[in-house]
Order: sequence, then structure tokens, then C-alpha cells
Amino acid sequence: MRGRVRKAIFPVAGLGTRLLPATKTMPKEMLTVVDRPLIQYAVDEAREAGIEQLIFVTGRGKAALVDYFDTAFELEATMEAAGKSLDALAPTRARFGEVVTVRQQRPLGLGHAVWCARDIVGDEPFAVLLPDDLMSGTPGALKQMVDAWEKVGGNMLATEEVPAEKTRSYGILTPGKVDGDLTEVLGLVEKPEPEDAPSRLAVMGRYILQPELMRVLDKGERGAGGEIQLTDAMAQLIGTQPFHALKVDAVRHDCGDKAGFVIANIALALERGDIAPKVRDFLATLRA
Ligand code: G1P
Repeated sequence: MRGRVRKAIFPVAGLGTRLLPATKTMPKEMLTVVDRPLIQYAVDEAREAGIEQLIFVTGRGKAALVDYFDTAFELEATMEAAGKSLDALAPTRARFGEVVTVRQQRPLGLGHAVWCARDIVGDEPFAVLLPDDLMSGTPGALKQMVDAWEKVGGNMLATEEVPAEKTRSYGILTPGKVDGDLTEVLGLVEKPEPEDAPSRLAVMGRYILQPELMRVLDKGERGAGGEIQLTDAMAQLIGTQPFHALKVDAVRHDCGDKAGFVIANIALALERGDIAPKVRDFLATLRA
């Protein structure tokens, strides 16, 4: 089995049209859940799982994301001179060389975004995290996956059961043998109608993949919506390498959606000792 998972791809070139007008000039990954941008949650989760290199696949208008993980010299110098603590900035500080960016010059799909990072990933397994899917769990979802992956190797994705009418929003898998929280993946299809869906097990935005996936993506085949789909490329690896889905012990919030984004803010605020009492008191007034 191949080494460790050291690199993670964050596809962050999306336009975030479901969250307009907020995302007109602001990358959706920079929208705030409680007190930090969405991207910070995904990066924290990756670091906890042992990821050493964060690969952002960006696009035009996404510079704020890269600046966010840079040193803010003026801000830090001013705060230090005023005797203010810099503790809040700690998670935003990237180690030298920790963040690498590459542009996805055209919006050709999630598979294409991942493929844009092929030369940075090289010949080793890598993770993919979709920051829209905010996964709240302890340990984090990717750490749970890495722990399971170390036993079975190959490719792994996170899964969760969804209601039948939701299959058309996700990649859906054909389940094979089940071993506790691990399910063998026998097939994958992107956004099937409920009547065509092989199960209700949906792909959540966390993956550990083998570099051979990039060779499949080299072909540039178009799938659902005319896009180069990650799901279709993964489907072609099934049978050639181990492929598992892990039911992660985490709550997933779809922050690419307005309601999901508001719910994430409430749910995460309630997990935060410093602000939870105030938020809980307010919610109680709504029920009265
Ligand atoms: C993408 C993937 C899909 C996956 C989903 C998880 O879809 O294509 O297979 O289930 O993320 O959030 P998107 O939400 O970008 O349409």
C-alpha cells in the first residue's frame, strides 16, 4: 500500500451562484460561519488529518482566499504595537510553502478542477475536500477517513444516506459488502433521478484518491451537465483498485445553499461555549 496522504486539493474556483448576491465580489469560501470563513473549517480538518500541502484550485476573483492564509504584515505589526493578542490569527498562518495554488481557467467541472492539480499531486494518494460541505465531527471527517484508509488503502469517499428525492443533487453509489461503517463501492453515478438511483447513499465532499485517477481525467470525458465529472472518473477506477465509502461520524452542512448556510451558523454557534447561551436564549424565544 502506498504511503501517507500528505496533499489535499481544495476546489475553490466555483462561482457560488446559489448564494448570490453575497458571492458577487466575495468568494463563497470566504463567507463566515460564526467567526471564520468556510475555507478555514476545511483547512483545519485537513491539517488535523495530517495533510501537509494545501492545494487551492482557484479562479478569477478568488485572491482573498490566498491572502487569507498569508502573513498580514500591517495588521500584525499594528496589533502588536497596540499590545493586542494575535492568537485569533493562528489558524490563518500557513507554514512556508504549505499553500500552493493553481488556476482552473475554465469552469469545466469538478473532475477538471481536480485534474488541474495533477502535476502538484504527482504520484501519490491525495485528499479532496469540498469546502461547501462543512463537516462537523470529532475527530474531523477526513481524519476518520485517513484512519480507515490506512487499513484498506485504495480510494475512499465519505457517504451519507439522503432522502430519495435528493439523489439528483449528489453522486450516488452502488453498495457492495458492508463492514461496520465501511461499504465497498461497486458503482458510482452522478446526480441520478430517484427512479434511476442505485441506492440512497450519497457522496459527501471528502475523498482520498489514488494518482491513477488523474490518468482517467486526462481523457477529459464529459458527463452529467456536460461537465468533466469527478464521479465518472472515480467510477472508472472501480474494479482496478480497492474502493470504499465511509459513513463518517459527522454532521454535514451544505453551505453552498442558503438554508444550509444559515443552519450551519446556528448549529456551530450552539457548539461554541462563548456564544451558545445567548443564541440558545434567542432560539427559545422563537419557540414560545
Ligand atoms: C459535487 C459532486 C457530487 C457530490 C457533491 C457533494 O456536486 O459532483 O458527486 O455528491 O459535490 O457535495 P456539487 O454539489 O458540486 O454539484
